[in-house]
Amino acid sequence: MLAAQTAASARDLLAALSRPLGFVPTMGALHAGHMALVETARARCASVAVSIFVNPLQFGPSEDFERYPRSLDADRKLLDAAGTDVLFAPTVEEMFPLGFSTRVDPGAVGASYEGAQRAGHFVGVATVVTKLLHVVRPDVLYIGQKDAQQAAMLRHVVRDLALDVRVETLPTVRESDGLARSSRNAYLNERERDAAPLLYRALCALRDALAAGELKERATQHAREILGAPGQWDYVDVVDGDTFEPLERNAPRALVIGAARFGTTRLLDNVWVSR
Ligand code: PAJ
Repeated sequence: MLAAQTAASARDLLAALSRPLGFVPTMGALHAGHMALVETARARCASVAVSIFVNPLQFGPSEDFERYPRSLDADRKLLDAAGTDVLFAPTVEEMFPLGFSTRVDPGAVGASYEGAQRAGHFVGVATVVTKLLHVVRPDVLYIGQKDAQQAAMLRHVVRDLALDVRVETLPTVRESDGLARSSRNAYLNERERDAAPLLYRALCALRDALAAGELKERATQHAREILGAPGQWDYVDVVDGDTFEPLERNAPRALVIGAARFGTTRLLDNVWVSR
């Protein structure tokens, strides 16, 4: 595996790779969810590039940018073993040098839910991913359904700005008890970790009730009760999985979404009702 820290050296390395090139952007602290994206890119593309960059633009001032888990050496080994051709791991100064001021604003699809809870978050994600796509110039972008609103937002950005890349959104990888794999699971203490699978269970109960024809309001009330202490809902809702407009009942592309806090750790999850 070749590695680059600057956009210029990444471009040089990437120019020599065979096409199609698959690209997996990450913030590192890699787990089975990230590796499923890399393995799929490996299976479907001639070459694979991965980026590791903890993007300060997408963290709010009171969020966990400083303490976000970083494990570059272990990540490097995992990526190498999975057959990654090029790792792009730039510094903050490389990506956002003094005077950097451009922002990509995804608009409505990024304004609600995560966008409402975390001001500026999706502008930060859209800006960094647009820049990464311009450096790497892949044929296929691999992203996870785990971050469903981020995935919907990135599909919009690619379409709206006519970026020349195909987006593939891959299913969420879970622990055996249903908890979605996340770098932030590392923050959970034992009690919180035991309770965390209730988020997925509540979303599945809501999915089943909607699939059986119940209206959202009633189904949501019941699902809310499943999340016991120490979990606390930020939101739970049913939306169109492409636009993130709320839905009142099951419909094509209906997606159940939820965010909950376990102690100070905020976890996200989602399940499709209909595709
Ligand atoms: P990060 O949280 O590191 O996730 C990188 C990619 O892995 C994202 O596409 C995410 O949806 C996917 N992923 C995470 N957990 C997953 C799981 N359990 N199953 C399947 N896929 C999973 O998301 C980001 O980084 C950043 O916002 C980024 C897009 C890199 C921009 O900075």
